[in-house]
Amino acid sequence: MRWIDTLETAAAERLPEAVHRYFRQGSAGGISVGEATAAWSTYRFRPHVLNDVSTVGLGTTVLGEPVDLPILVAPSTMHRMADPDGELAMARGVGAAKSVIGLSSNAGTTFGELGKTGVPWWLQIYVVRNREITERMLDAAVAAGARAVVLTADTPVVGRKEDDGETVWDLVRPGQLLANLPAGDWTDDDLAKADDLNPDVIGRLAERTGLPVVVKGVLRGDDAKRCADAGAAGIIVSNHGGRQLDGSIPTALALPEVAEAVAGSGIEVYVDGGIRRGEHILAALALGARAVFVGRPALWALTVGSSAGVTRLLTDLGTELDHALRLVGIPSLSSLTPDLVTGRFA
Ligand code: FNR
Repeated sequence: MRWIDTLETAAAERLPEAVHRYFRQGSAGGISVGEATAAWSTYRFRPHVLNDVSTVGLGTTVLGEPVDLPILVAPSTMHRMADPDGELAMARGVGAAKSVIGLSSNAGTTFGELGKTGVPWWLQIYVVRNREITERMLDAAVAAGARAVVLTADTPVVGRKEDDGETVWDLVRPGQLLANLPAGDWTDDDLAKADDLNPDVIGRLAERTGLPVVVKGVLRGDDAKRCADAGAAGIIVSNHGGRQLDGSIPTALALPEVAEAVAGSGIEVYVDGGIRRGEHILAALALGARAVFVGRPALWALTVGSSAGVTRLLTDLGTELDHALRLVGIPSLSSLTPDLVTGRFA
């Protein structure tokens, strides 16, 4: 059995039930979260033979940042429920694999503390109704060395989770969440997600921070094009791990349309959601992603093995990708092309 496949069960033994449920759950009826991995597994490969694959390279750049492997950690909350050092432990694990971490704007670690690790990090931001809060968070993140801003665009309202009994919100303690909320007497309305955004927000974020802006939550080619036209440096094809609109299309199926819509624009395309195997990563990269993000597996690995667990997760997935690249007959990521992939029996 793969170590990766043991992680969730091992994590469930260590976590309070409400935390395990929070990490694993999707919104509403759980359709999208349930379909995500299966959708990646519908792809079939058209491998080359008689290609020299004696030397395979996994290194690439993401927004100009060199990484040892095209596997990044998606932004998520509640790391301090998984490990006492929370995002610091996650970041150290990511850094040892020479990758990049997305830091949730709801994190339980200050930007300053994270910045001191020296691990490259991208700030995930929700624009909230009181723009002063967002602006002050952005300024603090820039001061602490964030390398990019990831605008989560799929959350005009928060997806409905169908919980019974104790929830993670009953367990979370001060300091485990929202460590970067600027001081102030904020109301719930101030903190509610902005539901009046349009693509102009991309330019405003770029101008305020001087950083590349990546839009997370894109599932359609036309929206990807709007983001590119508005100056986004990247997009993440994502349905938020099935935690926003339930029944949203699997990212495995959305990726080809999105990649095609922005081909040649220079924008970098990333994808997340249900990616659990080297073969899934191979399909994603061949279909136009520059790199993938993993969400829940990193939370399980953090719970089970702290920083070293996160490093092992990323390097194990990298080893699987290396193996799959050799089998598909392609020695370098830049030589991957969509014709290597087809639908199940197309
Ligand atoms: C998330 N995700 C998320 N996304 C975001 O933009 N801001 C956030 O604060 C969070 N928080 C969060 C918490 C938890 C517990 C999970 C599981 C996910 C979504 C995340 O970035 C990513 O899109 C998905 O997790 C990717 O899917 P997989 O890899 O978990 O299947």
